[in-house]
Amino acid sequence: MESLKPVAAQDQLWQQIRRDVAVQVEREPILASFLHATILNHSTLESALSFHLANKLDSAVAPALLVREVIDEALEADPGIGLAARADLAAIEARDSACHSLYEPFLFFKGFHALQAWRVAHWLWQQQRRSLSLFVQHRISVVFGVDIHPAAQLGQGILLDHATGIVIGETAVVEDNVSIMQSVTLGGTGKESGDRHPKVRCGVLIGAGSKILGNIEIGRCSQIASGSVVLKAVPEKSLVAGVPAKVIGTASCEQPALSMDQCALSQVDQLR
Ligand SMILES: CC(C)(COP(=O)(O)OP(=O)(O)OC[C@H]1O[C@@H](n2cnc3c(N)ncnc32)[C@H](O)[C@@H]1OP(=O)(O)O)[C@@H](O)C(=O)NCCC(=O)NCCS
Repeated sequence: MESLKPVAAQDQLWQQIRRDVAVQVEREPILASFLHATILNHSTLESALSFHLANKLDSAVAPALLVREVIDEALEADPGIGLAARADLAAIEARDSACHSLYEPFLFFKGFHALQAWRVAHWLWQQQRRSLSLFVQHRISVVFGVDIHPAAQLGQGILLDHATGIVIGETAVVEDNVSIMQSVTLGGTGKESGDRHPKVRCGVLIGAGSKILGNIEIGRCSQIASGSVVLKAVPEKSLVAGVPAKVIGTASCEQPALSMDQCALSQVDQLR
């Protein structure tokens, strides 16, 4: 089967990152060796990603070299992981007003790192390599403060902003182009077993500190105000707030890049 991975020279997103980082080497020579090691020494985004993540997940019992082998194996076996990483980078650049260039989340945003490492854990889970996937989940939780069960289902074009304290349970679903702020829980109520976690549809924005509990659907392009405790299904394009959360208005889907409503975008196609 022909590889879906972008050819390095035609991979516009990766070439853009390399160009921007080359400028940074000139501006900040003190970071030159770091920028070469993490970006400029790599011909593909996948190579740089496995190097960077492995060094972050490094531990005494599983050193970076060993972790990198696992990440490389996942990236090689499933080119969709690299494509999703590109869509995530594009989403962060489009939606995070603190982000001014694609290389910034790649190097410095732990929400991006946690999500890409989760993609590796998820791939391991799909291969029935349960203990290794749980090991990776554990390292992500320790290193980044983000705890996403490897069996959860997450799409692409996802922004985990700031990312500290995000918890996503085993049977949760997060569709494409969702933005999740810090301290958000997609959890169970504690009263259900089996399929017990939220299903978050495309284009949803979940504000900081919100807790969404139970097997409930959060309709596409809805917005959850910060600090909400959501216990009931949320209709699409609605704005909910409070404890427990209630519908307080409607959300618009008209300005994707500005409003974080990204349902219509197929960013991966644009990046190929
Ligand atoms: C409190 C809890 C156990 C539910 O208890 P319960 O007695 O069965 O409550 P019910 O679901 O029947 O709801 C009773 C009322 O309390 C409200 N309520 C329930 N949980 C609430 C919460 N966490 N915050 C505020 N109100 C809550 C409900 O809206 C309902 O209000 P209403 O009667 O006006 O409609 C559950 O909602 C909860 O918060 N569990 C903790 C889950 C958690 O921390 N999960 C994270 C896993 S990672």
